[in-house]
Amino acid sequence: MKIAIIGSGHVGLTTGICFAEKGHEVICVDHDTDKLARLRNGEVWFFEPKLPDLLKKHHSSRRLRFTDSTAEAVKFASVIFICVGTPTGESGKADMRYVEKVARDIAETMTDYRLIVEKSTVPIMTGERVKSTILRYVRGDAHFDVASNPEFLREGSAIDDTLKPDRIVIGVDSAKAETLLREIYAPFEAPMVVTSIGSAELIKHASNSFLALKISFINWIARVCEQSGADVHEVARGMGLDARIGAAFLNAGIGYGGSCFPKDVEALAAISEELGVEAPLIRLISQINREQRERFFEAIQHELWVLQDKTIALWGLSFKPNTDDLREAPSLWLAQRLLKAGAKLRVHDPVAMPAFKRAISDVYFAKDPLDATSGADALVLCTEWPQYREVDLAKVKATLRVPLIFDGRNCLDRKQAEELGMTLIGIGKQRIGPRGKH
Ligand code: UDX
Repeated sequence: MKIAIIGSGHVGLTTGICFAEKGHEVICVDHDTDKLARLRNGEVWFFEPKLPDLLKKHHSSRRLRFTDSTAEAVKFASVIFICVGTPTGESGKADMRYVEKVARDIAETMTDYRLIVEKSTVPIMTGERVKSTILRYVRGDAHFDVASNPEFLREGSAIDDTLKPDRIVIGVDSAKAETLLREIYAPFEAPMVVTSIGSAELIKHASNSFLALKISFINWIARVCEQSGADVHEVARGMGLDARIGAAFLNAGIGYGGSCFPKDVEALAAISEELGVEAPLIRLISQINREQRERFFEAIQHELWVLQDKTIALWGLSFKPNTDDLREAPSLWLAQRLLKAGAKLRVHDPVAMPAFKRAISDVYFAKDPLDATSGADALVLCTEWPQYREVDLAKVKATLRVPLIFDGRNCLDRKQAEELGMTLIGIGKQRIGPRGKH
């Protein structure tokens, strides 16, 4: 099948490359000519495992090419996926200007039947809007269908998630659209959920908000654990073994970040309120998430008493492991708060330091994790990269000025910390080490 992808960001590029991997002929469009030049050179400007290798592979297979011309892509492909950004706009609603522009551009260049598929995360009823925009701008009587096909890929495992999805959701209102999408996805051999366009749009927002709800729920339980002496890990394990609940996304921590959860939760609340449905539950998801990082900062401040001139090592800057994405990363917020309070930061991240430098530069960028902890009054962990999980705390203790750790992801070895006489403060767990000693 000949496929066009409009918008070659994380979602668009991954989708296009995976379609090429499954044998389709793909043209990816982006208006940023610098990015296109890098892509044509086999370079990806963000960190995503496996993506660069597949990009090179399909340059060679000639099943993947790039252009800045939507007209060229519309002419080439019979199915066009819209993958442009939908950033948070005013009052938490998604800003739809890029989707609307793409719909107009497609309409103005379409001469015969095309299937236009929304893949960007869009508010409910965007399908209707895309359809009416195309009808308004189309020249002649070119036929078309609009469909919704939300993506569920996670950064850091985007390729595997796309090539081996749990399910494929397609929202359609014509048999032709369904047939085309079934044909595209046949090689993926995944369960197919066929719905109306509106249901498919809602499935995406509902799924992301539900996952965020699980995280905020366990983070709230963590607070109860801290006050009651219970352990959030034990509670989550006991809950997660119930097949109706499931163990995934019950890891307590300093909250979710990234390009999807914060934006999609806000958008679902805004959309539902606009429809006249109050959304207190959805609003609380974001509130609890914001409070998590604030509480973590307060715990650091409380323990250190005065932050002015304290040296703090910060491990993990990306919003989660295996990405260099800093969007809504708790580390950014925390670093700003610590700097404002007068602390000096020694930061480390396996891949996100260049991106972090563009946002905050008045910190020391460490060569390795132990260079960061060298001489620090405390270690603060924000992201659970594997190298931090596996670290030998004896070495960390030897470099720290004070053996004090704040583990924002509950990923360090508590037993070893205890044996070494360190103080370890986690989330939803009893502290290790005597109060006020360090
Ligand atoms: C998410 C969805 O998982 C994906 O389906 C959707 O398409 C895009 O949004 P992503 O943002 O890449 O993917 O990351 P994900 O692995 O879901 O993690 C999101 C955030 O939640 C991270 O900040 C992570 O640290 C946090 N998280 C996740 C927790 O705090 N606890 C958990 O148990 C799981």
